Amino acid sequence: MQKHLAVIGYPIAHSLSPIMHNAGYKAVHKEAIYHKFAVRPEELQEAVLGLKALGFRGWNVTIPHKETILPLCDELTEEAKLAGAVNTVKVQEGKLIGHNTDGVGFVQSLQKHMDLTPDKDIVLLGAGGAAKGIAMALAPLGVTIHVLNRTKGKAQQLVEQIQSIGGHALLHEWALGEWLKRGDCIIQTTSIGLKMEDYPYSLHGISPDTLVIDIIFNPWETPFLKEAKSLGCKTVNGIEMLLYQGAKAWEFWFDEEAPVSVMREALLNALQVEKG
Ligand code: ATR
Repeated sequence: MQKHLAVIGYPIAHSLSPIMHNAGYKAVHKEAIYHKFAVRPEELQEAVLGLKALGFRGWNVTIPHKETILPLCDELTEEAKLAGAVNTVKVQEGKLIGHNTDGVGFVQSLQKHMDLTPDKDIVLLGAGGAAKGIAMALAPLGVTIHVLNRTKGKAQQLVEQIQSIGGHALLHEWALGEWLKRGDCIIQTTSIGLKMEDYPYSLHGISPDTLVIDIIFNPWETPFLKEAKSLGCKTVNGIEMLLYQGAKAWEFWFDEEAPVSVMREALLNALQVEKG
């Protein structure tokens, strides 16, 4: 029987998840279809009950529902509890299991580029929902996480949260500082660059050995990443993070590995089409 999956969010028109998952289903001849539904915040509960009643196997959850869906789940996985957010739901024996693949997806994509040994220093620029998911997945690896954010109180909160699960974290001012030279990897998680705006400060003085990541992938290369690249750093955008959170969701729903390379190709094709 055809299995149904979906992503719900608001707005949702630009989500690439259906393209990525449906390409994967086609490649492995899976009888499944992945939909996208625009669900307004006030309609979340009705939508979730509707998906369950219609026999959906599961769904992804994106902005603005990742936290508000928590109380609608019957059970939460450790990952969802740690992140305080759900991006993947599975219907299992009539129960809604809330899970989070954002953080582990990110860590898996990062491990392709560096060894995440405990001696590593990782700088997080930003302390919003995305930064929190990444931080809570990195913390158990024993790396030191340097946090800086425009609103310092939020950076402080994130530092305390990392420490509360036994992780190592340090608070910095939202300004250039010693973190620039100390970081083995710098991860840009704020929305600066979505409209191709320049970063508030320059990365001048960075070591070319630093891996620089921006979780934005559209635009493909933000001014922040462009600068890092011009200074000799290896740079990575957010497409792999999207890919691996999707692959991890596939594994959660179907208990099998996802066809990652087919899914990556579908994403790259879609972005080229959008870029014209
Ligand atoms: P997300 O889930 O994508 O992380 P979010 O939780 O709204 O979204 O967080 C957005 C992040 O981008 C925050 O770290 C925010 O900083 P503040 O906590 O100070 O708001 C950061 N951000 C957004 N616009 C910014 C700007 N112009 N300058 C600096 N930081 C910015």
